[in-house]
Amino acid sequence: MPDALIDVDAVRLSYGARCILDGVSASVIAGQTVALLGPSGGGKSSLLRCINGLNHFDAGRIRVGEHTLLPNGAENSRATRGAVHRLAGMIFQDFQLFPHLTALGNVMEAPVHVLKSPKAAAREQGLALLERVGLADRADFYPRQLSGGQKQRVAIARALAMEPQVLLCDEITSALDPELKIEVLETLEHLQNTGLTLLMVTHEIGFARRAADQVMILADGKIIERGPPSEVLDRPQTERTKQFLSQVLG
Ligand SMILES: Nc1ncnc2c1ncn2[C@@H]1O[C@H](COP(=O)(O)OP(=O)(O)O)[C@@H](O)[C@H]1O
Ligand SMILES: [Mg+2]
Repeated sequence: MPDALIDVDAVRLSYGARCILDGVSASVIAGQTVALLGPSGGGKSSLLRCINGLNHFDAGRIRVGEHTLLPNGAENSRATRGAVHRLAGMIFQDFQLFPHLTALGNVMEAPVHVLKSPKAAAREQGLALLERVGLADRADFYPRQLSGGQKQRVAIARALAMEPQVLLCDEITSALDPELKIEVLETLEHLQNTGLTLLMVTHEIGFARRAADQVMILADGKIIERGPPSEVLDRPQTERTKQFLSQVLG
């Protein structure tokens, strides 16, 4: 697929004797939003971590932009891993903000320390990003002074500060109350409209239906189904997907 920004090809991953990813192939087209769904323990987080270079894998290959990660990590140069890590920003359920830094400090941290951007430029960019996620008035607040939804929006701004080509979101609304979920999901939809590519692990079926271009179901170590939300969510082809959806939809 020429336009794919991420191309995962026959990736296998085992922890000890347990096979978690059993030949996963998947792709994400630039500018699209892909929702990754599947049962707990099915390997969704592991797959995102492989794509972002945080996890080694045992077989297959993963291309992100122009960079290809090979199995076992040994052959991946530091430069390749660094490049992949930058292209694919990751956000987690528990925010992982630096508690001793303000919202703006969190957003400026990587540009200043990793990219060696001048502080004034990083500050200007940081303020613009906080404005993009609707937090211009919270720049000087510490994480403990922010709601969960605000913390997650700071985490989004912090990831965007590295100018990634894709954001990998791992259940980023799972820890939030319903109204805070909505503000984070609305922020993502706003970013989608600016052309950002998203690969999201989520249990928000309503969001997936509304905002995803593609839905992928990861179960039993494989992508068992993929397609537009109207197909996968409303007309699932496999019993496994039907069973999973009936559990999440309650
Ligand atoms: N570092 C690890 N070492 C051993 N087992 C792990 C490790 N990380 C995850 N696992 C196991 O791999 C399986 C898949 O985990 P995970 O990728 O977190 O699934 P999901 O995100 O779909 O819930 C789980 O059984 C989990 O316990
Ligand atoms: Mg997970």
